Amino acid sequence: MTRLVEVEQTRGRLAGPPLTPRTAVIWSVLRAELDRRAGAELTVLDVGGGTGGFAVPLAQAGHRVTVVDASPDALAALTRRAVDAGVADRVHAVQGDGDALAGLVEPASADMVLCHAVLEVVDDPAAVVAALADALHPGGAASVLVAGQAAAVLGRAMTGHLDVAAMLAADPAGAAGPRDTLRRRFTADDAAALLTAAGLDVEEVHGVRVLTDLLPAAVSDGQPAALLELELALAARPPWRDLAAQLHLFARRRA
Ligand SMILES: C[S@@+](CC[C@H](N)C(=O)[O-])C[C@H]1O[C@@H](n2cnc3c(N)ncnc32)[C@H](O)[C@@H]1O
Repeated sequence: MTRLVEVEQTRGRLAGPPLTPRTAVIWSVLRAELDRRAGAELTVLDVGGGTGGFAVPLAQAGHRVTVVDASPDALAALTRRAVDAGVADRVHAVQGDGDALAGLVEPASADMVLCHAVLEVVDDPAAVVAALADALHPGGAASVLVAGQAAAVLGRAMTGHLDVAAMLAADPAGAAGPRDTLRRRFTADDAAALLTAAGLDVEEVHGVRVLTDLLPAAVSDGQPAALLELELALAARPPWRDLAAQLHLFARRRA
C-alpha cells in the first residue's frame, strides 16, 4: 500500500493518462515496473487491449505495443487514437481471438503482457494465460485484470436482485447463468492459481474499485480526490481488496 500511495503522490512528475478509480491502481503497479526498466524500449503485448486505453499511453512512454483484439471496431478506434497521439508507428493492431493467441505471437517475444478484462469472456482462460506466459521472456511481467466474484454478489444484492446474487455466489465460475454478460468471475486465490499454473509467479494482487461502484454518484462525483485516495489505500489490503469490482494481478514469468 505504501508504494501505491508514494507512486500516486509522485504522479505530477510522471507523464501518463488521467488517473481514475478504474485505472489508478493499475498504472501505479505498471509504473513501478516501467521505472524498474527505465531507459529500455519495452515490447508490450496487450491482449484484448480494445481501444488502447493502456496501449496508447505505453506507446507515448516510448514502448512498442501490439494489441490483439477480436473487435475490428475497437482496433479501428485504437488506430485513430494512436494517430491522434502521434504514436501510430509504435502501436501495432492485430485482429485475433485471445483463445488462438499461441498462434498469433512469437514465443518469448514480449517484455510485458497485459490482459485486462478478457479472461472473463474467453473459451479457455487457462490456455490464454499459458499463451500469455509463453509470449513473455523469462522474467517478463504480466498484468492481468479480472472481474471479482464477491463484488458482483454484493452489487446485485444491493440493487435488490437477490436471486441473481445467490446464483453468482453459488456458481463455482461466478456467473449467473446463460444471460450473464460474463462467463466467469474470480476470487483473488482462483486468479492467482490460474497464473501460477501457467508458470507465472504472482508478485502483487490489488483490488480495483473497492468502493467506487457501491457509492451513490453524489459521493463519487462530489469527492473524487478523497475517493481515489481511499481506493489506493484499500487496494492491497484484504478484506477490502477481495471485495473489489476487479482484481489486478502482477506476475512474472519464471526464469
Ligand atoms: C472490456 S474490454 C477491455 C478493454 C481493455 N483491455 C481495457 O481494459 O480497457 C474487452 C476487450 O476484449 C476484447 N475481446 C473479447 N473477447 C475476446 C477474445 N476472445 N479475444 C480477443 N479479444 C477479445 C473485446 O473486443 C474488447 O476490446
